[in-house]
Amino acid sequence: MALRLAPSLFQKIPPPIGFASVPTATTTMSDTTPLDFHSWRREYKNGESPYLLEENIVHNPTTLFDQWFRNVAAQRDLMFEEVNAVALSTCCNNRPSTRMVLLKSYCPEGFVFYTNYTSRKGRELEQNPNACMLFFWPKVHRQIRVEGRVEKAPVVWAEKYWNSRPLAARIGSKASDQSRPVDSRQVLEGRKNELERLAEDQGEAAITKPEMWGGYILKPEYFEFWQGQSNRLHDRIVFTRSAEEEGVKKVEDGWFMKRICP
Ligand SMILES: Cc1cc2nc3c(=O)[nH]c(=O)nc-3n(C[C@H](O)[C@H](O)[C@H](O)COP(=O)(O)O)c2cc1C
Repeated sequence: MALRLAPSLFQKIPPPIGFASVPTATTTMSDTTPLDFHSWRREYKNGESPYLLEENIVHNPTTLFDQWFRNVAAQRDLMFEEVNAVALSTCCNNRPSTRMVLLKSYCPEGFVFYTNYTSRKGRELEQNPNACMLFFWPKVHRQIRVEGRVEKAPVVWAEKYWNSRPLAARIGSKASDQSRPVDSRQVLEGRKNELERLAEDQGEAAITKPEMWGGYILKPEYFEFWQGQSNRLHDRIVFTRSAEEEGVKKVEDGWFMKRICP
């Protein structure tokens, strides 16, 4: 039976962003009235610490990251946002590309995520391990940029994390030759069904971690902490490993700090 929405509920649903009416497969941009969002403006207020001031923050970027992450994690709403979702940028042959991944752990050595080593990002990181992660937490008007080099994380970490994932997620990852062409969704569903049958026949342990699936750790060499302010005079505090950069002062653990203009 087709899903039917109660009329009162239906009326409350706003039109899709960017389109005045629900687009169909044959809708073109010229058929629709563009939505004017020039004037959308949200006030930036950070109740707990209105400004990001050098004298109020720890002078160690990994500790500051931990404080910010814990702060936003305490306010997370899993229905709407995954605060550990992070944009990961790679650059190969002068062609940058970015995609979201889920940060799965962090420690002073770096930031860990899991993926398929033969995916586009995996192939690009193999050629050029320099990468950038960008966290954006609109609820607290904060953004963190982390730049560094990635290394493959130990296989035991990947095994441990793989085995902790729900069966459906393991099957999904195993069924997907990530970033490669596939003839249809049906082909993917077929692989999934096969793996589900295997798990039924031989137990969940049969859904083993593929060899090409594993973790990376991004080892930071540069951090930028950004805190939005409503008057657009945002705060930006940078930590770098380089003593040579203009305006830096030495802080903890071999890091140098500076404020940069917004
Ligand atoms: C919120 C979010 C989280 C994601 N997390 C991961 C992840 O942890 N690992 C992963 O391989 N792909 C993840 N993806 C999918 C990637 O964004 C991307 O489509 C996929 O990894 C293939 O990217 P590539 O072709 O650049 O390698 C996530 C996507 C979203 C939107």
